[in-house]
Amino acid sequence: MECRPASPEDADPIAELLEQLGYPTSPETAGRRLQALTASPDDEVWVAEREGTVVGLVSVHVSGALEYDGDVAKVSAIVVDEAARRQRVGEQLMALAERLARQRGCVLLFLTTSERRKDAHAFYRSLGFEETGRRFAKALD
Ligand SMILES: CC(C)(COP(=O)(O)OP(=O)(O)OC[C@H]1O[C@@H](n2cnc3c(N)ncnc32)[C@H](O)[C@@H]1OP(=O)(O)O)[C@@H](O)C(=O)NCCC(=O)NCCS
Repeated sequence: MECRPASPEDADPIAELLEQLGYPTSPETAGRRLQALTASPDDEVWVAEREGTVVGLVSVHVSGALEYDGDVAKVSAIVVDEAARRQRVGEQLMALAERLARQRGCVLLFLTTSERRKDAHAFYRSLGFEETGRRFAKALD
């Protein structure tokens, strides 16, 4: 398996992965969002590929923070294809996210996750992440 930066040709599998994550998205919309993130110096979108097939993705957003003496990195999305789970793909994507965050000099790697994602909680704990808070959200439409 190899990890590489996502490219416009990945719009189809990225749309499929977003669907599995619970965010139904057309390939066109996925491609447009990917383009915006790829153009941003503060974002990284990488895919995991096995034998020519995309089997997972991770995106990372870097920002400044008043609370810390250094930038912080957020794993804004991670998902592994249903057919490729429990094969350490997610672990490798999170290791990549950590490497990218360190390369950018970040002092913290964090993420938010829904209460209902019990599998993901177990996954993050297995990687040494500690549960440190709650996420509150308000849709602004
Ligand atoms: C969470 C997710 C990314 C994990 O990816 P993965 O490639 O299946 O995970 P890995 O194989 O790297 O797992 C590493 C370790 O994490 C833990 N883990 C992973 N999935 C788990 C699960 N479903 N239940 C319990 N522990 C789990 C285990 O300790 C596992 O090691 P083990 O298989 O030797 O027991 C994947 O299940 C997924 O895409 N889920 C749906 C989307 C999602 O919830 N994303 C996170 C949103 S916040």
